[in-house]
Amino acid sequence: MHLTREEERMLAGEESAGAAKLLELLVALGEVFGAETLVPVESAHISGVSYKNLGEAGLEWLQEQAEMGARARIRATLNPAGMDMDEWEGMGVPREFAEGQRRVIATFEEMGVEPTCTCTPYLIGHVPSFGSQVAWAESSAVCYVNSVIGARTNRESGPTTIASAVTGRAALYGYRLDENRRPGAVVEVEAELNTTLEYSALGYLTGKKLGTAVPYFTGLGRPSLESMKALGAACGTSGGIALWHGEGVTPEAEAMREHIGGLEALIVEERDIEEEKARLTAPLEDPLIVLGCPHSSLMELREVAELVRGRDMEGRLWVFTSRGVHARAQEAGYVEAIEAAGGKVYRDTCMVVAPVKEMGWREVATNSFKAGHYMTNMGLKTRMGTIRELLSEGAR
Ligand code: F3S
Repeated sequence: MHLTREEERMLAGEESAGAAKLLELLVALGEVFGAETLVPVESAHISGVSYKNLGEAGLEWLQEQAEMGARARIRATLNPAGMDMDEWEGMGVPREFAEGQRRVIATFEEMGVEPTCTCTPYLIGHVPSFGSQVAWAESSAVCYVNSVIGARTNRESGPTTIASAVTGRAALYGYRLDENRRPGAVVEVEAELNTTLEYSALGYLTGKKLGTAVPYFTGLGRPSLESMKALGAACGTSGGIALWHGEGVTPEAEAMREHIGGLEALIVEERDIEEEKARLTAPLEDPLIVLGCPHSSLMELREVAELVRGRDMEGRLWVFTSRGVHARAQEAGYVEAIEAAGGKVYRDTCMVVAPVKEMGWREVATNSFKAGHYMTNMGLKTRMGTIRELLSEGAR
């Protein structure tokens, strides 16, 4: 691989032993994927933050990087942790877990990473520019930044995003190159999509059918920001899709139109969406309603606040969001309204990365196919519904 003088110096340890080690990792990865050079990246979003995934071994590796002088040189934000950093006791998180999680966040802070603990950093001001090279991890955030914002990243991992944050580089291959951003299949949506849940179902079935191919959607209508984050989260979960184009919706779609001739077409009808909803839905007795996968926007918190006003949701509703959105929702009175009805609004974490087994969860109802997928895989019973459906039925 061809390296610049600055990269050679970094590799020789002139910045820090940590930067040298992490650059070595990126070079090795680039060589596996046939990259000829590295490319400067503007921002990083780091996953693998929950102590549930990292454990002591992961934390030790992270601490070693910090001790070797690894420090972020570009803007770097963090994905959700395994608990609300302030309200963990109320969530029922074991003390030992909380201690481990605190040490993880402290180490990231020492490395100069912003402890945002959210999978929707783009809702709190981390918005890369169109066409910029970035290094983001977390399937839903990757899908959003590639597709809706039009920045360029591969589906990075925790270690590679840390390496990019510290070195300001990524290996130039995959979705960073024009030719790999072209569609691999056309998805003709004949169903009328009216809710975020339906966009989530569409994403889930598209990922299952296409695997990692880049879909070019037609007939998407006018999806809201919330629907686009749900669509990307679901297709990144069931298949591994990192980039999608939506005719009349996403910024690169127009330029991609010349590449869709002759591609395989997948037709999606109303009944396909309904079948998908039924697949992750079992009859439940007393589920916890979990919303905010990906982390809730201000609009979603407003919707929840309006729907629960005057209702008793005590012990039956948890909503997840980022600290930034939570602060705005608090100002607007949405958090107070949800909590007055007995619901909880947690920050920094989500239903998938929290230690839910240890917290005693058995049944959940949700509007996110990504959450439904993971909760089912964890052995929980799930039910899919829109926010309105779940809250008006109390989810039973
Ligand atoms: Fe975000 Fe957790 Fe869902 S990280 S996309 S809320 S699984």
